[in-house]
This record gives sequence, structure tokens and C-alpha cells, in this order.
Amino acid sequence: MSALPEFTFDHAAAMLSDREFATVRELIAAHAGIKLSPQKRNMVYNRLLRRLRARGLSSFGDYLQLVQREGSDEREAFVNALTTNLTAFFREPHHFELLAEHARARARGGKPLRCWSNACSTGEEAWSIAMVLREAECPGEVLATDIDTDVLQTAQAGVYRMERTAGLPPERLRRHFLRGTGSNEGLVSVRPELRSMVRFAQLNLQAPAWPALEPCDVIFCRNVVIYFDREFQKRLLARLADLLVPGGLLMVGHSESFPAAHPGFRSCGRTAYERVGG
Ligand SMILES: C[S@@+](CC[C@H](N)C(=O)[O-])C[C@H]1O[C@@H](n2cnc3c(N)ncnc32)[C@H](O)[C@@H]1O
Repeated sequence: MSALPEFTFDHAAAMLSDREFATVRELIAAHAGIKLSPQKRNMVYNRLLRRLRARGLSSFGDYLQLVQREGSDEREAFVNALTTNLTAFFREPHHFELLAEHARARARGGKPLRCWSNACSTGEEAWSIAMVLREAECPGEVLATDIDTDVLQTAQAGVYRMERTAGLPPERLRRHFLRGTGSNEGLVSVRPELRSMVRFAQLNLQAPAWPALEPCDVIFCRNVVIYFDREFQKRLLARLADLLVPGGLLMVGHSESFPAAHPGFRSCGRTAYERVGG
């Protein structure tokens, strides 16, 4: 008698129906404010298929039931799977030049500059802010938040493949990073002086209530509101305006101009806005 073949799950057979895709879009909008366009269907399929595998499930229907279950332990991984985390050190360098001016002016006054990187992804943005403050000899602190707990772990570790820092001038690299040796060859790690300036936490910009936050001098809210609808962008902007001190700076992404029409903001450079009024 021949042995029974082992039972295997044929991933190719897992289909994402129109209805299931619509459910994914509703769920990610409800939990993270992210509007997924119909063109993202393949992306959704590929990313969630990995979650199906991880959970040992054979259909998107079963997977979505799991995500929707009260208190589901899969919801966080579902959100993490659907965020887009592209970032880089000193991405959109004009913001860091403006920050450096601000930091140099503040360094003379001695009062710490409080900065918030509120969609920090894997941390490059927050560490870049800290590097600028350190170079300007400006006392300061950086709060770095994101909804995605996976990227936050990478951010907090502060360890990157050397290629990620290839665009940094050698002097900056030496001043702010330690080079890995032995089993850490090919890696760099941010120096303790930088680490002590940055604090990481999970924060969902879409949440109706945020943890208590101190007023900020500078907010980086970059390349995240493109995923949100206009209504949510407006509400978020009002909350950011409340948190920024007068004269404080708001930096947004290259294709985001949402603060332009708000009376509490005045343009002060490329995709940079100054908080005016009370
Ligand atoms: C494209 S990255 C931008 C990273 C960085 N700000 C930059 O410009 O290089 C977008 C980040 O926004 C985060 N994100 C998406 N929805 C969010 C939400 N509702 N609350 C907080 N972060 C969110 C994602 O997890 C992702 O890490």
C-alpha cells in the first residue's frame, strides 16, 4: 500500500475575492486611516498571503474573520503588513537645512528644542533630526512614533546595514555611528549620545485620543498624510496646530501641501510651514 501523500497547502489556490478586498480596505481605513486604492489589490494579496502562511490559514475569508474577532491578536500584524515604510536618512534634505538654522538660533538661547517625528518608520528620520541638533550643539529631544510596531523595533535598535548610510558624508558617519566588527561587519549602530536624545513609542495618528504630548517646536509629519482622506488630513492638521508652539515648524512630504490653506500656518520654505498666531 502506498503511503498517503503529506497534506500541503496550495498557496496559489488562496483567492482574494472582491468582497474580501473591500473588507480589507474598510478595516485598514478604520484602524489606521489608510485609504487603499483599488490598484493596490496585488500588493494587498502578496502582503496578506504572508500573514495567511504565518497563521496556517488557507483562505482570506478565514484570515479576515480572525482579524475582525473581538480583541484579535492578529490586528497589529494586519496593520503592520499594510503600511508602506519607505524612508531614508536625510530624506528631503531641505527640511534638515531649515531645522539646522532653527537649532543654531535656539542653541544660543539654551532652551531645548522639542521635535516630533510622527510617522518615523524605521527611524532614519528621527536619527537625522537628532544628528542635526547635535551638530548645532542645540539641546533637544526627539519623540519618534509610528503605528507600525515592526518598524518601531528596527528604529529603536538603531542598527542599519552600511548601505543605508552610504549617502552620509564620512564626517557625519564617524561622528554619529559606530561601525560593526566581527559578526556585526557591514552594520552600523547609532552612538549612545544620539540614542539618549530619541524616544520611540507607538502612536496611531488616527486614534481619537493620543497620549499626553508636550508642546512641540518642530513636527515632521512626512509622507504619511498621502494615505489619508481629506477629512482626516484636516482633523490631523488641527491637532498638530494645537501642539506646535508659535513660531514652531511643520515639515510635510514632497507631495503634501495640506497645511497651505490653514490660517494657523505660513509657508516658510519648500513643504515647510511656520505656526503663526495662537
Ligand atoms: C512612507 S513612511 C514615511 C517615513 C518618513 N516619515 C519619511 O518621510 O521618510 C510612512 C509611515 O507612516 C506610518 N503610518 C501609516 N499610517 C499611520 C497612522 N495612522 N499613524 C501613524 N503612523 C502611520 C507607516 O507605518 C509608515 O512607517
